[in-house]
Amino acid sequence: MRMHRTNGSDVLVIGGGIIGLVTAWRATQRGLATAVVDPAPGGGAAQVAAGMLAAVTELHYGEETLLGLNVASAARYPAFAAELEAASGQEIGFRACGTLAVALDADDRAHLRELHALQRRSGLDSEWLTGRECRRLEPMLAPGVRGGLRVDGDHQVDPRRLAAALVAACERAGVVFHRQRAERLSVTGGRAAGAVLADGTQPVADQVVLAAGSLSGRLAGVPEHVLPPVRPVKGQVLRLAVPPAYAPFLSRTVRAVVRGSHVYLVPRENGELVIGATSEEMGWDTTVTAGGVYELLRDAHELMPGITELPLTETLAGLRPASPDNAPLLGRTALPGLHLATGHHRNGVLLTPVTGDAMAQLLAEGDLPEVARPFSPGRFSPAAPVRQ
Ligand code: GLY
Repeated sequence: MRMHRTNGSDVLVIGGGIIGLVTAWRATQRGLATAVVDPAPGGGAAQVAAGMLAAVTELHYGEETLLGLNVASAARYPAFAAELEAASGQEIGFRACGTLAVALDADDRAHLRELHALQRRSGLDSEWLTGRECRRLEPMLAPGVRGGLRVDGDHQVDPRRLAAALVAACERAGVVFHRQRAERLSVTGGRAAGAVLADGTQPVADQVVLAAGSLSGRLAGVPEHVLPPVRPVKGQVLRLAVPPAYAPFLSRTVRAVVRGSHVYLVPRENGELVIGATSEEMGWDTTVTAGGVYELLRDAHELMPGITELPLTETLAGLRPASPDNAPLLGRTALPGLHLATGHHRNGVLLTPVTGDAMAQLLAEGDLPEVARPFSPGRFSPAAPVRQ
């Protein structure tokens, strides 16, 4: 572990969500003195997210490049989870349970058939099942389920435990936490030099990483042409509890597209059942609405009528940091010394391992690994290409 300069470090990470934390943890492992700015490290979208690691079942047309990054990160998860649990002394709820994507009517089934064909063309493992085969795997499924895709490689992790473990691992590794809000980026001599915090302190650093989730697009002091094109996309999520008498209610993640909306049910080993998620362009609003809860329960009930018996323990809304092409922004900006690790949209939890590795390589060696290069922020400002 390197000694910190007074109020200064090699790397300052603005944003202590899972992406900022994994960047800080991995950077510290590379021997870089690292600090994180966040009023509540470990908070943010991870406190709401369900934690599906859905590289295969969340494949979308036109996102084949992102698929490479998603698959690379999914492959890292088992070793990443083991290493983080050892480093933090905390479990993160990684569960290699697989996923079943089901169809409720003929339109859903046609949609799922298309997805299956795309998965096969992309070389991904996915098996078509009849409705009866789906119910044999998951007996609580509605009798009307018409078919489904069994994807044994799409697992889950508990994002709250992941975030807590990353905070602990960072603390043990010597990361310095400034538990303050970053008011603005400091720029000195045309170079990012640190941040000005809400209490007036001004930590300085040789390199700054902006990893503030959906807030990344509005940090004062970042030049206009460098601000990441990231916007908040609201997701409402419900948490239910499966009493021991009902267990096992579900043995794997079950998901569907119902009337065009995604719904998924993620069963944790501790009995929590997470139902998500709405996807709403509502700016910074994080209100839980009657309509959002109604739609999630209605769609989940169509999949699994038995959920109405379960206690509803929590409703929450969070903000996904979305970019124009739904893929993250990783790497240098046109402002020397300022890097981005943001815009992970629906894949922040999945992309945590690969983001940490990529950003640490950039910070320590000056370039991104091959797998992360397509995600350079320069793709949104072609007039000013930036070397990665
Ligand atoms: N990846 C799930 C979601 O963003 O809702």
